[in-house]
Parts: sequence; structure tokens; C-alpha cells
Amino acid sequence: MILRDDGTPFAPDYGDVYHSADGALAQARAVFIEGCHLPRRWAGRRIFRVLEAGFGLGINTLATAAAWLADPARGERLHVFSIEKHPASAEHLARSHSNHPELAALSRELIAQWPLPLPGLHRLWLADGAVLLTLCFGDIEKRLPSLEGPFDAFYLDGFAPARNPAMWSDHVFKACARLAAEGATLATWSAAGAVRDGLTAAGFTVERKPGFGRKRHRIEAQYRPPAWRVMATDPATAAPASREVLIIGGGIAGAAVAQQFARRHWKSTLVDAASPLPGGASAIRAATLHPHLSPDDALLSRLVRNGFLQAVAAWRMLAGAGHDPGARLDGLAEIAEHAGEAAAMARCIAHCAPPAAYARFLDAAAMSARCGLQSSQGGHWYDQGGWVEPRALIAAQLEYAATRVISGREVTRIAHTGALWQAFDRDGQRIAGAPVLVLANAADAARLCPGHYRLRPHPGLQTLIALQAPGEAVLPAVALTGAVQAVALDAHTLLIGSHCGGRPEPDADDVHRGPLERWAHRTGRPLPALSTHDISATRITTPDHLPLAGPLPDAAAALARATELRGAQARDLPRQPGLYGAFGYGARGLAWSVLAAELIASRANGEPLPLERELADAIDPARHLLQVLRRGEVEPTG
Ligand SMILES: C[S@@+](CC[C@H](N)C(=O)[O-])C[C@H]1O[C@@H](n2cnc3c(N)ncnc32)[C@H](O)[C@@H]1O
Repeated sequence: MILRDDGTPFAPDYGDVYHSADGALAQARAVFIEGCHLPRRWAGRRIFRVLEAGFGLGINTLATAAAWLADPARGERLHVFSIEKHPASAEHLARSHSNHPELAALSRELIAQWPLPLPGLHRLWLADGAVLLTLCFGDIEKRLPSLEGPFDAFYLDGFAPARNPAMWSDHVFKACARLAAEGATLATWSAAGAVRDGLTAAGFTVERKPGFGRKRHRIEAQYRPPAWRVMATDPATAAPASREVLIIGGGIAGAAVAQQFARRHWKSTLVDAASPLPGGASAIRAATLHPHLSPDDALLSRLVRNGFLQAVAAWRMLAGAGHDPGARLDGLAEIAEHAGEAAAMARCIAHCAPPAAYARFLDAAAMSARCGLQSSQGGHWYDQGGWVEPRALIAAQLEYAATRVISGREVTRIAHTGALWQAFDRDGQRIAGAPVLVLANAADAARLCPGHYRLRPHPGLQTLIALQAPGEAVLPAVALTGAVQAVALDAHTLLIGSHCGGRPEPDADDVHRGPLERWAHRTGRPLPALSTHDISATRITTPDHLPLAGPLPDAAAALARATELRGAQARDLPRQPGLYGAFGYGARGLAWSVLAAELIASRANGEPLPLERELADAIDPARHLLQVLRRGEVEPTG
């Protein structure tokens, strides 16, 4: 982007301006806000969702957010979901916003959270959550099919159709129709015949209106669905009976759910059999968080990226609100085991070319300097990676959410009566109830609500080594992962972790000799007879090592329609109203925790999802049940 003499931002690659020379803010208001009949259309609505094609410098978004905040009768939350192929730099945003003092406060918040230019979705919380902005970085053609609606208003703001046809294709217009809520409005500054025809063919009623500034015309349109299209009930229009969520499981998964619901002003009650919290796998001393890279940016890498970025942002927010999440995100190293692996890691970085602040390759010398030890190999370095004390994180999340915690009570049964989910103990005593229930209790979730989940144990072990004297063992300067996980918890405690090779019964080799010897070998210093303490934690994983996160299936209802649903997709399977699952996290509890929690809170609240459709599908808790239906393993019961 360059600034022209009159101060208008200009994109040389497209030979066009970002907005009218007659005023960016005035254009945003006249063409997009008024063109979509706002604020009239959001009156009386709890949640209002805008989809924008072309975030650019964010003037439309900030102007809409400002109009929302200025409206005393506004609803609970405005969502702006904006697609952008060439994200601007924070510096360019700041420069172009400086012309609009009325947007200053929102601009500061936007810039403070401005994400790295990584493909995929990025969620930014503005004005204390009154406005959520989901940025979708990527090409509109690829990204639109991956989105899930509905949206209430559309801003089409590409460069001129002749110079930027991808933003004005029939494919875009049809996707808008697919994503439109009933009566959704659409606005654009262009009145080109092809745009009008394309929108009309997609099902919009299009009107040509007097244009803004020197433009003769602009377009206002409204989506009128064909009579045969059945609109699903839209949770954004109706307020939930009460904003209360019951969470079963007080580990990393459950506490993150409490936080993301609390950010939406929901009350939470959390029940756990353990006392004190956390029990289970979250009782480990330290857990690491870092990106996952693959040369083809595989689904796992995309999911972990989304989860990593959301976790980092959510913990920053906790810290900003005065709740210390116990996170040390000052960098994490993934060191290669041998030269071949190091070369592959270097190639992966060269191929993916991620922003250096996300991931980069360090050679052996640079790696040694970073880690404070002599490393014979290089590897990946993650600036924002690090480690967390799960106990501190969970405490901070529950404190922030002001969660009512009921510990030491085991839930043995759940039941849905009226619009309420209730949890009962072994004696049939009711423990708690709420309209929304989230099962975040690992393998026990499957016991409370069978859904043909394919869960398996994934044992892990952490050995704490208390050094008797300084220098007895090499303490890494940062958290390390790879074949051996090592974290210096403090100046005299070294934690060495292992995944026990996924074996259910770890033997002595898995437990001690393997990781400890690897550490001794890597640091070139044999570990003396040390005082050690082991913490074993059996995590629960799935065959594809992806979590189960989202609305839980109604297995009985699905099996009753087994023949009909055999060719269905997971998302078509019947669900239990108000019942969600967040489990099967395996060894990536931290990366999945906020992602799953935000997905569930968004779904429960009728808001756009924080991740693309195919990613949500990949972690859908109904996917194992679908496999059962596809294989025809279960006879239909009716
Ligand atoms: C006119 S500007 C948008 C101005 C913006 N709405 C604002 O308020 O500042 C058009 C934007 O569309 C983006 N764009 C162009 N082609 C695209 C594509 N194929 N996919 C996604 N975004 C694209 C450009 O990078 C540019 O930021």
C-alpha cells in the first residue's frame, strides 16, 4: 500500500484506491452502514453479524463498531467477520486511522491485538467484548466456502470489479446467499451491471441508489430466500432462557470453557470429583504450548495454529484483567534429534515461510545460545511459545469467571428435563443444573453421554529433579520440546517429560532412562543421583489425535435413523440441545483448550465460529458415531 498525494491509500498491484477520495469514513457510513439499513436492522437483536469482503484498513469495521457502541439500544454483541488476502501492517493501519480521531479508541484496541499475517481466522475482542472481530486472512475464493453462517449484513468492498474480479465473482455472490440469514442486507459502492446481475441470480433483491461522492450509483440489496429454503432456528435472535453454563470437569478443558463463557457474561458452575482441583491429567506441573508446522500446512497445523493463537490471546487478556495465568511465553525450542531431522525442519520453514515471530529455524549455534546449552542440532524456534503451570492457569480462569466450583463431587448421571441439564451423584442427589452443559471430563464424558467415542489412554510422565547444588544438571534457559521435553521450573527444579511412546503401561525405560538419558546425552553431562519425583498423567486421546469439541450427538436418535444417515456428514447428525463436549485432548491440552471453549461458547450463543468449517468438522464429537453409521455396524432400531 502507498499513500497518494491527497492522502488516499492506494494498492499498486490492483491500480486502485482503498476508499473514495471523498472520505473513507463518510464512505463507510453512506455506502455500507446506511446501505445495509443500520442501525435500524440491528434494533432489538441480541447478536448482529456482518460479513465483509475486503478488510483493507478496517475503516468500515471500525465505523460500524463505533455506530454499534454509540447506539444505546444496541444488543449484546456485534460480530464483524472480515476476509482479507493481503493484511496491512499495523503501521499502515495506524497511519490511516490517524485521520479519524472519532475511531481512535477502537483503533488502538485493534492495533494492540493486530495478528501476525498467518492464514486462517484470528479473533479480536474490542470494547470489552461488545464487538468481536474475526479476521479471515486468505483468498476470498478459498475462504468463503469454509465459512459457516448465518450473517445479517454483507459489505462487498473489493477493488474495482475490472481490476479485482475475484472479489465480485458469481461464486462470491452465491456464497453470500448461502451464508445469509433471512432478510440479510448487502451493500457495495459498485453498481456494475455484472454485480447487480450476479446478486440477483443468487437470490438478492437489488436496488440501485445514488452513489457516494463522485460515484453515480451504488447498490443496496436484500436476501429473500427461495420459498423452498427452510431457515434453521437462529439462536442469535432469541435470548437463552438464562445465561448459565454447567461444566463437568475442572481441568484445562473445563476452566477454559468457564473463561470464554464469562467473557460473554454467562455464569458458570463447575463440578469435579477431585478435591482440590485440578485432578487427572491437569495435575501435571508444567505443560508446553507451541505451534505445529508441516510443509503442506496440514489440517493439524492449521488447527494447532488457531488454538495456539487463541490461547496466547486469552491468557494475555487474563493477565491484563489481573489474573496471573502462570504462563511463561518467552520462547520455546523444538530441537532436532539428528542432522536429517534438522534439515527437514529447515526445509519446512523455507517452504511455509511463516512470519519469524511465529516460527523460524535456528542452526545449532543459535539454538545453543537461545537455550543456554550446547546443542549439536538446530531446530524450530517459536517466539511466543512457552510453558504454563496448569494449576495456576485453571485458578486464574475460574477466578476471572467467578465460577461456582463444586469439587469432590462425582457426577454419575446427567439428565435433560424441560430446558435444563442436571447433574446427579451416585446417591441420586442433584448437584447442579443449567440450560447449557459442557462435558469436559475426559473419558468420563463418554460414560455420562455415550456417543460411540473412540477414546484411548495416552500416558505421559513428568519427572521433577530437585537439584541439590547449582550446576548439578544443565537447566535450559527456555522450554524445550521434541524427543524430550525439558522445563526449568525454577533455579533448582528441572522437569523432564515424556509421552511414554503412547504405551499404556510405561516401563522403566519410558519413565526414567529414556528421557533422562536423552537429556544427559543432549547436555553432555550425566545426571548424578538426584532426588526425583514422578507425576504420571494419563491423558485421553482419539485415533486421529484430534479432540472432540462441539455439540454432542444424540446417538439414540441417530441410530434410530441409521439407514437414512449412512451417507450423511457429521454435521447433519442429530444433537442433544444445549449439550457440548470438550475432551479427548491427548497431549495438546493447552492448544485445544481455548479453541474448543470459544467454539462451544460461540455455538451456544449463536455467534460466528472462531474456526473454519472443515476444522470444526475435524473435531466434531459426532465423527466417531458417523463412522459407526457408515460402516453399518448398528442395526436401525426404528
Ligand atoms: C477497497 S479495499 C477494502 C477497504 C476496507 N473495507 C476498509 O474499510 O478499509 C479492498 C480490499 O480487498 C482485498 N482483496 C483483494 N482481492 C482479494 C481476494 N481475492 N481475497 C480477499 N481479499 C482481497 C484487498 O487486499 C483490499 O484490502
